[in-house]
Amino acid sequence: QKLKMVKICCLGAGYVGGPTMAVIALKCPSVEVVVVDISVARIAAWNSDQLPIYEPGLDDVVKQCRGRNLFFSTEIEKHIGQADIVFVSVNTPTKTRGLGAGKAADLTYWESAARMIADVAKSDKIVVEKSTVPVKTAEAIEKILIHNSRGINFQILSNPEFLAEGTAIQDLFNPDRVLIGGRETPEGKKAVQVLKQVYANWVSEDRIITTNLWSAELSKLAANAFLAQRISSVNAISALCEATGADVAEVAYSVGKDTRIGPKFLSASVGFGGSCFQKDILSLVYICECNGLPEVASYWKDVIKVNDYQKSRFVNRVVSSMFNTVSEKKIAVLGFAFKKDTGDTRETPAIDVCKGLLGDKAKISIYDPQVSEEQIQRDLALKKFDWDHPVHLQPTSPTAVKQVTVTWDAYEATKGAHGVCILTEWDEFRKLDYVKIYENMQKPAFIFDGRNVIDPQKLREIGFIVFSIGKPL
Ligand code: NAD
Ligand code: UGA
Repeated sequence: QKLKMVKICCLGAGYVGGPTMAVIALKCPSVEVVVVDISVARIAAWNSDQLPIYEPGLDDVVKQCRGRNLFFSTEIEKHIGQADIVFVSVNTPTKTRGLGAGKAADLTYWESAARMIADVAKSDKIVVEKSTVPVKTAEAIEKILIHNSRGINFQILSNPEFLAEGTAIQDLFNPDRVLIGGRETPEGKKAVQVLKQVYANWVSEDRIITTNLWSAELSKLAANAFLAQRISSVNAISALCEATGADVAEVAYSVGKDTRIGPKFLSASVGFGGSCFQKDILSLVYICECNGLPEVASYWKDVIKVNDYQKSRFVNRVVSSMFNTVSEKKIAVLGFAFKKDTGDTRETPAIDVCKGLLGDKAKISIYDPQVSEEQIQRDLALKKFDWDHPVHLQPTSPTAVKQVTVTWDAYEATKGAHGVCILTEWDEFRKLDYVKIYENMQKPAFIFDGRNVIDPQKLREIGFIVFSIGKPL
């Protein structure tokens, strides 16, 4: 009954804001949810049949509640004004210049969101950090809000999001946990309860964890660091497998059977990508350094170092096995997204691998079922960390890379190629007609499987020279 009056506004209609708010609207029919964004194009897409992000199951959820209790709008001020709970789900990229450049989180978007909330609020509000932010950010946000409050009461909560792309809807329907951090004052505790009641519409109480603000903020950075660390651990072992004749899939299976370790997140790969693992670990490293903890910082920094090593190791493997040069050779790249079932290319390992191959003057032909040519060209032309910053801040606008072509078909991409690199684990790459691909390639035909999707033995029987991550050569 109490929930009847709750109005939610979410700032940031991105990969997190869009799906999380759609699911809240679906599961809480009595709550009105408005998602706002400064990007007019993004909001228009959310209001169209072609949603701005590809996520299995998302279309269905949006269709059920859009226009009922889920709205997408660019009228930011109006909807903040009307809301009881304001989620902030704006981007928090790595700083590219100034203090902490290349490591610290850039809170420009967050700060301007907070100032906007302070400016337009005319009634008490609960402000929820949904974005991943450095620990202690709530203190800064509180300062901005309180010093501009004109008598309005703001409660800040930390409610980090743990969804993974490609499985966002499933993760939101059935989360391992929902984490809510708040102040330990009576008002703080009350605010925690209000947000808890929203989630309690579909998440069982034992999965809703409440903590203090700093624990909630830090848990998010720690969880991503632990996840990324597992991948760097298995990837480090994959290098040793290649050197010794062990098979990383067998090793990971045996290790993961230990219930204390568990079987998930142990797939060796060409490296982890995605918009968050690297940026969040760099942010964690910077926070450790600022707190006088250089040993802790360097421990986590090595997770990134191993990931960078894995990507460059892959490029070196391609070049060295193709007689030490790929100059003017056609290399087909299958998969560009940072993982399957998403069109997202942010920090995808494919960018570094392609840049490495281009550095050796290869001609690259790329196929990904969800990524457009325009996106790929933009990604390959941008500098590290620049992708999440407005284009007008960049010194020169990117021009297309001539050595790169993009096709909409794996057979077209591999036609006449000297080598094939599989960089995303799309299911369809398991089912390709590799006999046909082999016949249309230059010989010897090389295949480098950065995701362990093909059976090396079967492809060797066809005639390919095969290199798979962490597999006997
Ligand atoms: P995104 O770039 O897809 O979306 C952010 C949106 O915020 C953009 O559309 C941008 O235009 C908008 N925005 C920026 N400033 C604004 C303002 N002042 N008012 C209104 N809108 C504004 O980013 P994302 O992937 O959704 O990530 C958002 C946050 O969530 C990040 O902190 C990220 O670390 C965290 N996160 C992301 C994921 C993920 O899978 N992508 C998962 C968990 C947490
Ligand atoms: C990750 C976390 O899994 C989410 O819990 C978190 O909310 C999110 O980051 C975030 O904060 O942004 P996401 O990046 O969407 O989610 O996708 P993951 O499934 O974690 O994959 C990340 C990268 O690791 C991908 O490139 C993937 O291919 C790679 N990976 C994953 C491996 O190389 N091996 C594995 O075993 C698992």
